[in-house]
Amino acid sequence: MLEQTVQIVSNDRDTELYFRLVLRAPRIAPLVQPGQFAHLRILPLKDALLRRPFSIFQVSGDTLSILYKNVGQGTDVLSRMGPGEELSAIGPLGHGFTVPPAGGETPLLVAGGYGMAAMYLLAERSRQKGVVFVGGRRRMDILCEKEFRALGWEIRVTTEDGSHGEKGLVTQPVIGELQRGTAGRKLFACGPTPMLKAIAQLAEEFNVPAELSMDEHMCCGVGVCLTCVIPVKTANGWEYQRTCTEGPVFDAHRIAWETAE
Ligand SMILES: Cc1cc2nc3c(=O)[nH]c(=O)nc-3n(C[C@H](O)[C@H](O)[C@H](O)COP(=O)(O)OP(=O)(O)OC[C@H]3O[C@@H](n4cnc5c(N)ncnc54)[C@H](O)[C@@H]3O)c2cc1C
Ligand code: FES
Repeated sequence: MLEQTVQIVSNDRDTELYFRLVLRAPRIAPLVQPGQFAHLRILPLKDALLRRPFSIFQVSGDTLSILYKNVGQGTDVLSRMGPGEELSAIGPLGHGFTVPPAGGETPLLVAGGYGMAAMYLLAERSRQKGVVFVGGRRRMDILCEKEFRALGWEIRVTTEDGSHGEKGLVTQPVIGELQRGTAGRKLFACGPTPMLKAIAQLAEEFNVPAELSMDEHMCCGVGVCLTCVIPVKTANGWEYQRTCTEGPVFDAHRIAWETAE
């Protein structure tokens, strides 16, 4: 984990809601593992002391990219920054996904909203190609479709309003896929908590391994403040674990959902 002043290479609108931020981060970029995140201090922001966590979407040489949605104060200021301006970044942070080895289980990647950002590096580094299930409310929520296709992955798109791909929730085609067979399949997911919970239930029901990226609200991002904890099952019951350090990726079968409610 390193703290570095990073320079914006580009910061372009991707869809109506999302931006692609490319940062020159020569010390952080080479260390990134799929599912890890960067904690950014948006220097022009009044409360710049509070960093914002973002999954690392792509890595290329000494640059890393982030795919972010403009949802509030910090991302709004960020969306108006341009090439040459600087941010402070801590990264790579967190415990990421297990990269599928050659000849191992077939990965089934499930992504909702900005969860696609966390999935791209996993697909790129996986030694085994699989299927990516991408879901969103509308067409404009569907990101990275052509990038996943370019990697040679099969991609299944669902939108809740039916404006792109199959109409419905992203879990529907996942259920169909698991009904066709579960042997040698493994689920990986990142997205809104209800979607992650549904994927955890499917993992139990179909008895397949699953890793989930649990993106909780984070303050420090480095294991000190305990704002980001979730209950995780242990041999003796359960304990709180930090999503910024023990996670954000957890074994779905170990998350104590009942305790979390
Ligand atoms: C590990 C991790 C990875 C993430 N990766 C991405 C990513 O790749 N792309 C992306 O667009 N966003 C990602 N997020 C969410 C992102 O951190 C928040 O959207 C961002 O911090 C909002 O900052 P803001 O100042 O614009 O919003 P604020 O003004 O602080 O809040 C606006 C809205 O955003 C929500 N929000 C604030 N902080 C978080 C948070 N930490 N997690 C979830 N929602 C939050 C608030 O509930 C509120 O509804 C990730 C979060 C985590 C924990
Ligand atoms: S965000 Fe501070 S301990 Fe996780």
